[in-house]
Amino acid sequence: MKLPPFEIEHFFRQHEFSAPHGISSSDCEPLTLPEILDYASPSRRAQFENLWLGYTESQGHPELRRAIADLHDEGIEADHVLEVVPEEGIFVPMNALLNEGDHVIAIFPSFQSLYEIGVGIGCEVSFWRAGCGERGWSFDIDALERLVRADTKMLIINFPHNPTGALLERAEFERLVDLARRHDLILYSDEIYRFAEQDPAKRLPSACELYDRAIVLGGLSKCFGLPGLRVGWLITRDAGLMHEMQEMKSYTTICGSAPSEILALIALENAEALTERCVTIVRENSHVARSFFDRHDDLFRIHYPGAGTVGLVELTADMDVSEFADGALREAGVMVLPARIMKFEGNYFRIGLGRRALPQALEPFEQYVVDTLY
Ligand SMILES: Cc1ncc(COP(=O)(O)O)c(C=O)c1O
Repeated sequence: MKLPPFEIEHFFRQHEFSAPHGISSSDCEPLTLPEILDYASPSRRAQFENLWLGYTESQGHPELRRAIADLHDEGIEADHVLEVVPEEGIFVPMNALLNEGDHVIAIFPSFQSLYEIGVGIGCEVSFWRAGCGERGWSFDIDALERLVRADTKMLIINFPHNPTGALLERAEFERLVDLARRHDLILYSDEIYRFAEQDPAKRLPSACELYDRAIVLGGLSKCFGLPGLRVGWLITRDAGLMHEMQEMKSYTTICGSAPSEILALIALENAEALTERCVTIVRENSHVARSFFDRHDDLFRIHYPGAGTVGLVELTADMDVSEFADGALREAGVMVLPARIMKFEGNYFRIGLGRRALPQALEPFEQYVVDTLY
């Protein structure tokens, strides 16, 4: 399988650690090691400090799998969970389950690997595209239904959605799951931005709670503020699908990182505090972003995310967004991700509301906007 460059990763590799500021990150402010250890019970702390650095269990630490299962409704058990590095949680199921010629439907725009691996395998990929109206970003279930064919094998979704921040209404989500069930599709649901809904009542059920043939990707990278642990998980109640994924994992990481597993356990034992921390940072940054974009509403249009950490901003001024982003980096040291890097046409860039330094980054950004666009 040949894959083209993963453009968003290429972009972040070039600029993430060299640009003085950024306004497009997708993670929530990462914790430090002392901060996460402060959450540990005495026994977990002792476990971490005395840890044996051997290989770990391939399916994942049993207690960690139990803690991941416990984030979900009854019926999801530790045996339904496979620990993975988050990105591996896309690579593994696609490679394990898809074959050349399969028909796949993927949400678009989206994180490139969600559809690119299928394309690389030789699948026929149809895109379920976002729409944007007065009330913000939307995904039309009727349009999705029209994409389904007799030979469709997998439907790939991502709610809360990167990059728009869109979230379906619960009834729409249930319709979508019902559609997958009626057509016997594997429903691959990337839920890595789940657990940081601004209104917790809007949190969708996890697809794995509703449908046996769902495969859910979750992880600690975004709303738990722990991307450096590289801990994620796949969940499915279908033993056959789980078996295929477990076999494929032997060709990628084989097993998880021992220290990360214990730190992940500490995180999940404090899941509410950590996700609340993320919700608070996003809420505070949304206020700052609102006042920024209100001051410049003749230049930008934004629909704020209902959940997760990211949203899309339309540059309505008469300037190409790639040129605008290049200038922001060159002249103000601010990294701005044009949505084109995510292969999404239109004059959009992504805003990340999860980092504590967003208000500081908006200062040089504003100076650049004033100098360039007025
Ligand atoms: C929708 C989505 N899924 C999966 C991932 C992979 O997470 P990680 O980068 O921690 O491997 C990302 C990362 O940006 C993402 O946005």
